[in-house]
Amino acid sequence: MYILQLLGLFVLLSIVVLLIQYYKRRWPVANFPPGPTGWPFIGTILSIRKEVFFRTIADKLIPRYGKIFSLMQDVPIVIVTGYDAINEVFQSNKGFDFASRNEPMYLLQLHNPKKLGLFAADYSERWQQQRRFALLTLRGFGFGKTNFEGKITDEVSLLLSHLKDLASVPQDLSTLLTSGVANVMCDTFLGCHYDHNDIEFQHILHVMEESFEIYGGKKSQLLDFVPISRPFLKQHAQKIIDLNEEWYGFLMSKVSGHQKAFVADSEPRDFIDCYLAKGLEEPDIFTIEDLKYVLSDMFAGSTDTTSNTLKFALLYMVMNPDVHEKVHQESMRVVGTSRLPCLEDRDKMPYTAATIYETQRLATIGPSIPRCATVDTTLAGYSIPKGTNVVCNIWLVHHDSNLWPDPERFDPSRHLNDKGEMVKSPHVLPFGAGRRVCMGETFAKMELFLFFSSLMHRFKFELPPGREPPSLDSAPGFTASPFPFEVLVKEYL
Ligand code: HEM
Repeated sequence: MYILQLLGLFVLLSIVVLLIQYYKRRWPVANFPPGPTGWPFIGTILSIRKEVFFRTIADKLIPRYGKIFSLMQDVPIVIVTGYDAINEVFQSNKGFDFASRNEPMYLLQLHNPKKLGLFAADYSERWQQQRRFALLTLRGFGFGKTNFEGKITDEVSLLLSHLKDLASVPQDLSTLLTSGVANVMCDTFLGCHYDHNDIEFQHILHVMEESFEIYGGKKSQLLDFVPISRPFLKQHAQKIIDLNEEWYGFLMSKVSGHQKAFVADSEPRDFIDCYLAKGLEEPDIFTIEDLKYVLSDMFAGSTDTTSNTLKFALLYMVMNPDVHEKVHQESMRVVGTSRLPCLEDRDKMPYTAATIYETQRLATIGPSIPRCATVDTTLAGYSIPKGTNVVCNIWLVHHDSNLWPDPERFDPSRHLNDKGEMVKSPHVLPFGAGRRVCMGETFAKMELFLFFSSLMHRFKFELPPGREPPSLDSAPGFTASPFPFEVLVKEYL
């Protein structure tokens, strides 16, 4: 009897200690953003059972806790949902307070535990050196300038010739679009070019897309959010490890090929050559391991986002034929029939530019941007300790009915003024902002314009008759992509 009482007391004490420990971790400082308290082992998972956590949780939690609230993963995480607070994170006068990336949770540990490269790196001297070098090198290649235009238009022409060959049977154009965008990056970063039907190329693009998809899925969120789920999700974790191995194996095979053929002081062929040369000058900073992650961030970060934007643009065109027609008419007026659109035409085609901009708003390819506090700081009056993960929910800004009347309606004219000129809004943030702003913004805008305007100039895309309209939602994933859909392709005569 006495032993049983002692055991009961021990269990009770253990629970109390566990709760106190959890409570201390959950509320690291006074005045931390409010949110559900949650429970040891499972955190706040019960409050966020929806499938695409950061896109939808806010419906339930904002009314209760306000626009800035906190959740408990393995560690506390602050979700920022209003434009003003997001602007504070991005453009903070305090400078670099939120310029780091989130602390490695389980998934990041699996593929980049040292937080190397560009996207996952903390705000540090090393990250600054990598970013500066990558930007300077790409500028040297003409990246973001008109002399890079030729590389893109070559790919556009190739894509158009593939579309010409398509018979009038419904087609999913997803693979063709991704291949076109990826080839521009292959040329720049890896020094190679693939046929669209090449099996190795298609396989590796599939691996890349599957990785993005799997990272945003429900099981991956569980792995990050709920540590006790990990023993039950070993197969899923292994799948992620396998995909990582294939992806990085592909990139490293390109690097080792370059290493074998590398001749110091000779004209660099591509980004890898430039990096290897830099590595000779500063071997401790520009290592092969760093290169692996820099390449991955630039290549995957650009291909997935740009091709997904184009896929959504195509989807919105088939669902809004009047807009499609206006974009086509504008290109015929400005460009005529004898050539394809070029960058010089961009300023003369405001309706097309507004259509791309509206696509970026409505689709929001990067719905939640992860950052991390570099110092003890404040946000909208709340205390945020150093090392706190902060996620900016851009999707909600882009869909806020106070900023966008009828926000779910696809309407490019909301970005045009009375004179028909395109007007940018501070509330459209597809590339993030501030110190960690997307490195490829200028280039992505060039690519989106050239691909999209040329497609609209030459082809009419329609929904196959008698089909259910495709979903306008985005499939689960780290970035937003449309669910598969088919279109009929008709060439304008
Ligand atoms: C439509 C296309 C694109 C979209 C929507 C997009 C979106 C984004 C977003 C939202 C971020 C995070 C920004 C922040 O934290 O404030 C980002 C970062 C980044 N993007 Fe892009 N991106 C696109 C194209 C590209 C391209 C073409 C490249 C490279 C050629 C690129 C390379 C990067 C890199 C390296 C980072 C990490 C920067 C850092 O953390 O220092 N992106 N992008």
